Amino acid sequence: MKVRIRMFAAFLLTFSMLSVWLPVRAAAPEPVRGKHAMVASQHELASRIGVEIMRKGGNAVDAAIAVGLALAVVYPEAGNIGGGGFMLIRRADGKAFAVDYREMAPKAAGRDIFINKDGELIKGEGGSQIGYRASGVPGTLAGFDHAFKKYGSGKIKWADLVDPARRIAANGYVLSYRLANLLVGYKGHLAKYPDSNRIFLNNGNYYKEGDVFKQPDLAATLGRIQKNGGQEFYTGETARMIADDMKANNGLITLEDLKNYVAKDREPLRGSYRGYEIITMPPPSSGGIVLLQVLNMLEAFDVRSMGHNSAAELHLYTEASRLAFADRAEYMGDPDYASVETPLLTNKAYATKRMAGFDPKKALASKDARPGDLTMSEGTETTHFTVVDPDGTVVTNTYTINDLYGSRVTAKGTGVLLNDEMDDFAARPGKPNLFGLVQGERNKVEGGKRPLSSMTPTIVMRKDGTPWFALGARGGPRIISAVMQSVINVIDFDMNIQQAIDAPRIHHQWLPDEISFEQFGMSPDTRNILASFGHTFAEKPGNIASATGIMIGKDGVRLGAIDSRSDGMAVGY
Ligand code: GLY
Repeated sequence: MKVRIRMFAAFLLTFSMLSVWLPVRAAAPEPVRGKHAMVASQHELASRIGVEIMRKGGNAVDAAIAVGLALAVVYPEAGNIGGGGFMLIRRADGKAFAVDYREMAPKAAGRDIFINKDGELIKGEGGSQIGYRASGVPGTLAGFDHAFKKYGSGKIKWADLVDPARRIAANGYVLSYRLANLLVGYKGHLAKYPDSNRIFLNNGNYYKEGDVFKQPDLAATLGRIQKNGGQEFYTGETARMIADDMKANNGLITLEDLKNYVAKDREPLRGSYRGYEIITMPPPSSGGIVLLQVLNMLEAFDVRSMGHNSAAELHLYTEASRLAFADRAEYMGDPDYASVETPLLTNKAYATKRMAGFDPKKALASKDARPGDLTMSEGTETTHFTVVDPDGTVVTNTYTINDLYGSRVTAKGTGVLLNDEMDDFAARPGKPNLFGLVQGERNKVEGGKRPLSSMTPTIVMRKDGTPWFALGARGGPRIISAVMQSVINVIDFDMNIQQAIDAPRIHHQWLPDEISFEQFGMSPDTRNILASFGHTFAEKPGNIASATGIMIGKDGVRLGAIDSRSDGMAVGY
């Protein structure tokens, strides 16, 4: 008995000593494990479809395309073929590729298209957020078609990637509590557009949790895409239907705009944080640049010993974020239309210079946080999914129709919800957009241009040069914060991918000058300390984006994680 008591006392002592020096970890379920492959997406059906494609010999790119098409059906608020996005690929042979299939402004769009005769932003129909004029030319199918032909395995037919999505659209799927309620929640604007009202609101009879939701128009569109390839969307019957509906409703997208859309290969952006290589998305996303800028600014500080989400760490992070977002507003845009000094902005010496005035006990007011001096010598809503295949190819893809349900317009007869990505341009340079972001002339509206994005698909490499984890998020500019803090959580605080994604986070985007925070995400005493440094806070708490990601263990096991802030499922085998 005495021996047992002594053993128990020794256990308690050891445990209490361990708890002193072990890093504090966020409580979270274990990531989902798969020995060979993994898909993490925001709907179980889409993840299962991706896994099936890989079981049949498809690679991560093939699987990602099938997942993306399926999400257009089962996750209509953000999954899409009427929007655009970015696909970041790292193949097992070490080569990385970034496919830019961001929407493009129609040719007829110009700088002041969303400003009325009084110089005010147009609200509602005709503006950059709601209705026919809010849409950029969608890029999703061009991007998927390009990725399939250039980076796919060649072992799976295009038709087989489209078929699962088409079948679910035709036969229907059971609506979750969340999706049924979300549709009703968005009825205000959806009801104004006849096809959106018919398809998503059941003509005012509203769908309920458990109803089987069928989308025959979308199934027919996917059927044509299955038969004719991605070009169907740009030159086929689908293109004609979209252009006709635009013409009848004072929209701007023409058949010629659709025909001229091209997906582009971009050189992935590379940087590092504490010796770990980061591969991320270059412009027209701002996400990769802002991510690397903030990580560069943090690198000089011992973030680990500050403690996760301590006032000291949150203050440092906020100040770095404020400065990077000030640069975003001034210096970033579509690189084909405006000069973007990516190497300078992501230079570590530039980060040191930016942080020169950092005060560990005092916040800089955003009005005093100007964009940096680049003359030094060279020295709302979206969805993300991540796929890792048996060979180790990693695909991390974020695509979007911008706000939930995009422009709320379903192009007549197609079942395709169109984006409101025109709001990601500076609709009125110097004034806030849907996400409160203030942006400059480099991101003004121009025909053929792609709006600046915050989507940040990212891959972090181990020091031995193998992929460690890949992730991305939905949530407008908050995407960047979610990705940044998840990267910091893994590297500085030793969290696993699920813990890193679930941990409470904050967001600061320069303007408005306030820290956005999450319910139960910040203790009152931390908040008081930050307030004493001069920080102000958003009026109400709210989720800071939601992420999905996959980590590859040292033993090769794939570990999938879906943010507890949203639904979805990681599925592996
Ligand atoms: N539409 C959100 C983004 O691209 O950042």
